[in-house]
Amino acid sequence: MAAFSPPPGTADIFPAEAGSWRFLENTAAKVFSAYGYGELRTPVFEYTEVFQRGLGGETEVVQKEMYTFEDRGGRSLTLRPEGTAGVMRALTNTDVANGSEQRVFYYGPMFRGERPSAGRRRQFHQIGVENVGRCAPLIDAECIAMLHNYLRAIGITGAVFTVNTRGVMDDRPPAEAMLREYFSGHIDAMCPDCRTRLDRNIWRILDCKQEACGRIITEAPDYSQCFSAASREYFAAVQEALTRLGVPFRVDSRLVRGLDYYVHTVFEVTHPGLGGQIAIAGGGRYELFLPGEKKPLPGVGFAAGVERLLMVREALGVPAPSVAVAGAFLIGLDAASRMANLVLADRLRAAGIRVELELEERSFKSQMRSANRCGAVCALIRGDSEMARGVAILKNMADGTQVEVPEDRLFEAISQRMA
Ligand code: HAM
Repeated sequence: MAAFSPPPGTADIFPAEAGSWRFLENTAAKVFSAYGYGELRTPVFEYTEVFQRGLGGETEVVQKEMYTFEDRGGRSLTLRPEGTAGVMRALTNTDVANGSEQRVFYYGPMFRGERPSAGRRRQFHQIGVENVGRCAPLIDAECIAMLHNYLRAIGITGAVFTVNTRGVMDDRPPAEAMLREYFSGHIDAMCPDCRTRLDRNIWRILDCKQEACGRIITEAPDYSQCFSAASREYFAAVQEALTRLGVPFRVDSRLVRGLDYYVHTVFEVTHPGLGGQIAIAGGGRYELFLPGEKKPLPGVGFAAGVERLLMVREALGVPAPSVAVAGAFLIGLDAASRMANLVLADRLRAAGIRVELELEERSFKSQMRSANRCGAVCALIRGDSEMARGVAILKNMADGTQVEVPEDRLFEAISQRMA
C-alpha cells in the first residue's frame, strides 16, 4: 500500500485543513502589504549554484539536505530548500541592482531531505519576506515587528523572540580566534560533529543541540566584544527600536542560525506550545552575491514554517477559520427536474451562490440527508408533479417550513434567502 501513502515527510492537505492554510496566506498578504511588500513567485527549482553560493557550501542544508538532480542537458538543478536565494536571483533582473529597495513576500513549498519528525518535513511550506537593497538597524526592527504583528493577526500569542548579532564579515576573524581558543580546550568532551566544526566552521558549534556540548557552549566567552564599535551600535539600535515598537525579545549569543549568509541581526521565534525547541520562524540580515556582481546585495527577511504555525494554533486552541458558506441544496426526483436543477444551479453559482445538488438518481430521503450534511440554508425540492405545474418547493432547513415558488421566481427566492 506504500504507493498510496505520500512519501515520508510529505503530506496531503485536505479541504478541511486547507481553509486554515489559506487563512494564514491571506493574512500574510494583508499584513505584509500594509508595510509595502508585494508578492513574488519564483520557481520551485533553481540551478544548484544559486543555493550553493547563496547559502554557503559549509551549511548543513547544502551539504546534506538538498534534493539535487540533473536536467536532460546535464545541468544540475535543486528543489529549493528555502526562499531567500531564489528571491535574490530573481531580483537581479530588477532595478534593485542599481540601488533601489525591493520588498517582497512569498509562500510555497520548500524541500529538505531531513529525518521526518513532529514539525519536521521533507516538503514543508514557508511564508517569508525579503527586504532587499537597504541596510539600517531600523529596517531590521521593522521587519521583526512585522513578524510579531503577523503572528498576532493569526492568533498566535506568547511567541518568544530571540535576537543576536553576527557582526559583519570583518568582525568574524577576531571573534573566531577567541572561540577557537576556548573550544580547543574543551573539544575532547564534545560531540564528533563539533570536533570537525572546530576547524571547518566554528560558529556551528554554538548551535549544537547535544547535551554534553550545551554546558560547554553556555560558558563560552562573549565573542561580540571583539566586534567593531559600529557593529555593536548597530545591534543596540535594533534593540532600542524593538523596545519602542513593543516587541518583547531576549538576546542569546548562541543564536547564529544555520545559513552562512547572515550578518548583523539574526532572530528566531519559538513557542512554548511546541516545547520551545523547534523554531516557528527565523531570519535575519544578510549579504548575498548576485551572479556576476562584485558587491554583495544587502537584505533582511524571515520565513515562518506554515506547518509549525498551524501546530501552535492548535496547541493554543485557536479555532480553524469557518469556511462554511451559506448555500442551497437542489433535490430532483426525476430526470426532468434534475436537468432543470442543473441549469438553475449554474445561474445561481454564476451569481456567487454556493449550490450543491444531486445529479444521480437517488431517493428523496438520501437527498435530504445530503442537504442536512452540507449545512444548506434551504432545499429546493421538485419532481414530476411540481414540474408539471411549473413550481418547486422551497424548504427552510432551520425550521422545516416550506413554500411553493413558481419556476420563474426561483432564482430571486433563493438569492434572497442567501443574502
Ligand atoms: P530557516 O530557519 O531555515 O530559514 O527556516 C525558516 C522556518 O522554516 C523555520 O523556522 C521553520 O519554521 C521552517 N522549517 C525549516 N525547515 C523545516 C522542516 N524541515 N519542516 C518544517 N518546517 C521547517 C530560512 O529558510 C531563511 N531563508 C529565512 C530567511 C529569510 N532569512 C532571511 N530571509
